[in-house]
Amino acid sequence: MDPNGRGAGFRAAPVASSFTPDTAISPPGPAPRPFGLPPDDFDRDPMACLSRLGDEYGDVFTFATGRVALTRPEWVHWVLARTNRETRVNPPETPRGLRRRPLIRDRVETWMAGRRTAQWHRLGRDIAERTDPVIRLHLRRFLDAAEHAPVRLPDCERVVLEATGEVFVRDLEGDLWSLLVQAADHLLPQGTSPIELPEWMSRFARRRVRANDAWIEALVAHVQMRRRSRDPAVLPSDLLDLLLDARDDDRPAFTDVEIAQTLSINLGNLYAVGGSGLAWLLAANAEHDFIRPEATDRRDWAGAVVKETLRAYPVIALTSRELVEDTVFGDVSIPAGTSVFISSYLLHTDPRWWRADPSRFDPARWLADEVHDQHAYLPYGAGPRICTGVHIANAVLETAADLLLDRTVTAWRGPPRPHWGSIMRPRRFRVRVVPDAR
Ligand code: HEM
Repeated sequence: MDPNGRGAGFRAAPVASSFTPDTAISPPGPAPRPFGLPPDDFDRDPMACLSRLGDEYGDVFTFATGRVALTRPEWVHWVLARTNRETRVNPPETPRGLRRRPLIRDRVETWMAGRRTAQWHRLGRDIAERTDPVIRLHLRRFLDAAEHAPVRLPDCERVVLEATGEVFVRDLEGDLWSLLVQAADHLLPQGTSPIELPEWMSRFARRRVRANDAWIEALVAHVQMRRRSRDPAVLPSDLLDLLLDARDDDRPAFTDVEIAQTLSINLGNLYAVGGSGLAWLLAANAEHDFIRPEATDRRDWAGAVVKETLRAYPVIALTSRELVEDTVFGDVSIPAGTSVFISSYLLHTDPRWWRADPSRFDPARWLADEVHDQHAYLPYGAGPRICTGVHIANAVLETAADLLLDRTVTAWRGPPRPHWGSIMRPRRFRVRVVPDAR
């Protein structure tokens, strides 16, 4: 059944529309620049650029060749909810050298089987709750040290990995740890630009390939070592054990390389996305004044502060899907093969979808019953490819928000500004954290 209730077979408008791919118009947008590039200001500030184009052209517009942006919550939700069916995750913009092995995220069935293993057993709410004391211990130590030495982004990335990395690989230490950090640090400077320099033109790209190869090689060796020593009678104690044990009637067991890639993607996100999430939480505490209302429970307030941080600073602010078939949004038809761009940041800051002014940082908005349009809040995405780390990320951020209720955070170099890469990272981020007088 399609969203218009017209029954299977008609794959058109995700919202009520009388248009079909034949009668609908092409998406409006600025005249294309040479090579189909997006407007000049896109690379500098993609959100300001897309927001400007949205004001000019409406909720669906093209901004570069083969690239369309959607800014209505119900359309965005439709696109995400149908991933792996009517839409698919765009192949990652990875330099060719990183693709020497087929990438597991491009092989949907294997990746989804790995996701199920991770999700059902260990990465769900239960593991987040069981690891809570460990997370608290690490974060408390980290915040206590931040009284004397300012915290920078790499400190946030490392503490998230220290606090929760053992969920994925319980003996993630020594060379394995440093190779992961090096690989993640090399992969992060990627921008949002749809154009990647060819590898031979960029020594950064070559370094990136080398760092990633070294990390994956070491991880594959680690998986092999664990496979040799794995006693199936012993209960699995991390995601690596679970992936080794996973048996599915429909598919062969995971290979060592598949396990290494699954772990690598999760650990990379944990370090980089989780680390930036923690940094934005600290930055929000430094930049905005907000006080817990007396009647509000500590835990509820910490949850509200985290929600508001992820609303105002969604770490993955822009993502995309490729349309598998011609699709109509409103009166606009988008051809199959187009990349549809979706921005949580634009949804989170558009006053049309929020009851209280979204330009204000206000955790108290989350204490009300109706806060936003049903599909306007997407910090972790939606649908079958929703973030696998939701519960772990929330456990880290809510524990940190709780600890920060008794501390004051001050920015050393003014408020950080977003760096819009594939991950929105705080630029010039440096804060100090001091315990409040008792
Ligand atoms: C503040 C913290 C985090 C935020 C805001 C966040 C956000 C997101 C979003 C929006 C997506 C979906 C992207 C898309 O639809 O294209 C995503 C995907 C993903 N996230 Fe997170 N994430 C966070 C932390 C984590 C952590 C701690 C992990 C570690 C397990 C993680 C692992 C992943 C993975 C593996 C995917 C890809 C899922 C797939 O393609 O099937 N994330 N994340």
